[in-house]
This record gives sequence, C-alpha cells and structure tokens, in this order.
Amino acid sequence: MTPQPHGFTRKQLLRAALVAAPAPLLLAAVPAASSVPLHPTPMCDDGDDETPPQIEGPYFKPNSPLRTAIATGLPGTALTVSGYVFGTACQPIAGALLDFWQADTNGAYDNVGFRLRGHQFTDATGAYRLTTIVPGLYPGRTRHIHVKVQAPNRPILTTQLYFPGEPRNSTDTLYDPRLLMTVRPGQASFDFVLDVPGVPPTTPPSTPPSTPGGTWAPGVAYAVGAQVTYGGVAYRCLQAHTSMTGWEPPNVPALWQRS
Ligand SMILES: [Fe+2]
Repeated sequence: MTPQPHGFTRKQLLRAALVAAPAPLLLAAVPAASSVPLHPTPMCDDGDDETPPQIEGPYFKPNSPLRTAIATGLPGTALTVSGYVFGTACQPIAGALLDFWQADTNGAYDNVGFRLRGHQFTDATGAYRLTTIVPGLYPGRTRHIHVKVQAPNRPILTTQLYFPGEPRNSTDTLYDPRLLMTVRPGQASFDFVLDVPGVPPTTPPSTPPSTPGGTWAPGVAYAVGAQVTYGGVAYRCLQAHTSMTGWEPPNVPALWQRS
C-alpha cells in the first residue's frame, strides 16, 4: 500500500469521503455526536487485502428473497450491518450481490423458510445495508453472520463476519480476525474487498452515471416479465423489484436478462 499524508491509505480516504458525503443532511437533523460514522473496518489497503473466504457451512439455501431487512418480527437485539464493496484498486463496486444468512437469537437457523435470509445489491457508491438481529450462539461456533458476495459477472466470495469481544472467538477454529466487524450498540460495519481489478478512483462517486438512455428508470416497481431497454439493449425482468440507481439492468443479472 502507499501511505498518504497523515498515514492514511487511498482507500481509507475514499471510504471516509463516501461516509462523509451525506453529513450535511445528518447534521441538519441530529446532534453532531450522532452523525459520527463508524470507524471503517477492515481498511482497504490498495490491493493487498482481499476479504478472505470461509466455508459455506451446512445451512445455506439458494433463492433467498430480495430484501435488505431480515429477521423481521423475530425477537432479538436489533442490528444494522453496513459498509461498502470494493475492488482491489479501491474502486467501489456498484450492483454487487450480497446474500446474507444467519441464526436467530437462540442460535437456530430457519431451514424451512427464509426468515433469516435475504439478498441485496450495492448501490451506485458500492454501499450495502442489512437490517437484522444479533445472531445467537450454537454449539461449536462463535457469533457470526454468513454472506456470499459477488461482483457482476465475477466469482462468488463465500465468507463469514465476526463480532469483537466474543469469548468463543478464541476457541472457534473458523474464526478469522480479518473478518471482524466494527461493532457498537445496534450497528456494525464491514467493507468487503473482492478480487476485481480496476482503476483507483481519484474522487468518490457523488452522482450516478449519466443514463445511457432507454425505458428503464429508477423508482419503478417492475414485475416478472417486464420489458425495458437500457443503453440500446432490451432486457426482461426475472424477479419483481423496485428499481434504484445502481441496479441498472447490466449491473444486476439476477434481476434482468437480455432478451
Ligand atoms: Fe453458521
């Protein structure tokens, strides 16, 4: 990595800028102390710290619902997990798929339904946000959240996220401190770094890319089978969803198929 002035790496600076971007809005609405962003973790060190993989374990199920909130209505301690998905050049990755699954507050998985499962896509700035509960413990494991992360048209990273200060972290053989989230009451943060080459950004993306034209638009509730065009290409909707910037058809093959 190449330290910047004051010891920051380029990606630390980038993340700080991304987190700081909405600050004027926050400051207008809440006391300053509440707007302090979580300390970024792990640091993106310009190409040498891809997020390590972990085993999938026995409880993954495909076809989770598209949603950013899981464990809705279940007992437990509310938790928001947020962060960014970066490539190895520190570039934010828009439209990256994140598929989360975890145990309930008693350490049990929902292997029949999907109450503790959900997938989402990063927005135009590479950001994601999961609303859930703190997972419980089950025999043999420390506290953790499972996740699969995939940049568009790239291999899947399967890994797990851990909580600091857990007594079982020292005895769980799967535990990896590189996968520790930064946690404070009710909030956790973690930035993923995927094996995706790219060009280091010089400035954080503050505005979405210009629309290349077509009938697709953000904020529209598309049904399965809906037809749109984007950038001169026709697409068919595979899964009902409300569109948003960052979910343009070329970015999210799980939602749109070329037709
Ligand atoms: Fe697990």
